[in-house]
Amino acid sequence: MSSNRPNLYIDANIDRFKEELFALLRIPSVSTDSRRKGDVRAAADFLESQFKSIGLENVRVFETPGHPIVYGDFLHAPGKPTVLVYGHYDVQPAEPLELWTHPAFEPTVVGDDVYARGASDDKGQAYIHVKAIESWLQTEGSIPVNVKIILEGEEEIGSPNLIPFLEEHRGRLACDMVLVSDTSMFDKDVPSITYGLRGLAYMQVEVTGANRDLHSGVYGGAVANPINALAGIIAQLKDEQGRIAIPGFYDDVADLTPAEREAYAKLPFDEDRYKRELGLHDVTGETGYSTLERASARPTLDCNGIWGGYQGEGAKTVLPGKAAAKISMRLVPNQDPHVIARRFIDHVRSLAPEGVTLEVHEHHGGMPAVTPLDSDGMKAAAQAFAEVYGKEPLFTREGGSIPIVAAFKRILAADTILMGFGLNSDAIHAPNEKFSLTDFRRGIHTSASFFRILGGA
Ligand code: BES
Ligand code: MN
Ligand code: MN
Repeated sequence: MSSNRPNLYIDANIDRFKEELFALLRIPSVSTDSRRKGDVRAAADFLESQFKSIGLENVRVFETPGHPIVYGDFLHAPGKPTVLVYGHYDVQPAEPLELWTHPAFEPTVVGDDVYARGASDDKGQAYIHVKAIESWLQTEGSIPVNVKIILEGEEEIGSPNLIPFLEEHRGRLACDMVLVSDTSMFDKDVPSITYGLRGLAYMQVEVTGANRDLHSGVYGGAVANPINALAGIIAQLKDEQGRIAIPGFYDDVADLTPAEREAYAKLPFDEDRYKRELGLHDVTGETGYSTLERASARPTLDCNGIWGGYQGEGAKTVLPGKAAAKISMRLVPNQDPHVIARRFIDHVRSLAPEGVTLEVHEHHGGMPAVTPLDSDGMKAAAQAFAEVYGKEPLFTREGGSIPIVAAFKRILAADTILMGFGLNSDAIHAPNEKFSLTDFRRGIHTSASFFRILGGA
């Protein structure tokens, strides 16, 4: 079955594939927004009918207490590996809408890119595998490996129902490896396979002072100011070297080995371009580590949002009753988000100044993951990239998080191959998210080739 009919089929049908992707991008499936529940459902229904029409079997939409999980399989390659494809059809909110050049849910093609929320994260990337499977089933009537696919609607809210789903459906989901496209390439035309992702602990700190807002002249100087108190706490969370000052924070951190650092140093990273693209004069971070190491192999602590007091026009003299912040910590092996959250809570409590009360709680998070480089799946993925992109992929770690990857290992005993087709410049989670249509096409070819190589066809 050393067929190139799937590849011919992809090129012959690519315009239709794009139109279908655009139809999916028009559905505002924002998982965190309860008003969008119907739209999230509509995206699941769209995928269910896709799965059926391309020839997948046992297609089902599994209900959960939250958003549905869409499943399909094609298991007719006895003796060949079983690949579980995972992706997510939910997206981040599009706000602030006024910063979008084109409407977020009206996909717009400019040059080689399609602009829309979810174009890169993750509808465009997840759909790659749907079309690769189609290209096999519609030309050969089979796939050279066994394929199962799950697309979930809750990744952007921490996959709360997928972990119980994995536990409950261990048998149905049993596989030799998981294939995910929800990460980035190292650079444009520089394919890469991601072998590490960071974990996440996400905290909210609320500081309360007086039982109401006060006149800052009448009361100022005599009572604590929650904004000042919160700023003081945040300022103490890192030291001058950029190290996180929470006791025990680094206890479980696996340090980079000399070999890993050597591999990092060899990556073709252009720091000047990095700065230029971000409009920065300088980059900064933990002393003793390179930019790439800081952004993917070292843990972080960052304020993601902070509020309190008067933010309107002009000057209102007010001493606010309340201030709050959202703080994320990106984690690396072998840090555990709940342990880190506990240490954060204890430490922040110990920093609370007199005259305010503090509430600290934990939002959803996830475990970090690193995967071995030498599996059959990794080799097949590298070969597939080389075939389509004309160059060997790099092996990189990334700073973002896909918490379910660690759960695939823990519950299904399967390593994940992160075959990313996005770019860091895709502006995921931000206004004007985009995805290269060339990489959409190359991605489908890469996925189709991966199935062929892995199956030895
Ligand atoms: N696809 C991203 C993660 C990602 C992006 C990994 C780029 C590597 C490169 C995913 O959809 C995401 O946004 N994850 C969240 C975590 C989740 C718990 C909300 C994240 O990383 O903030
Ligand atoms: Mn994603
Ligand atoms: Mn995301």
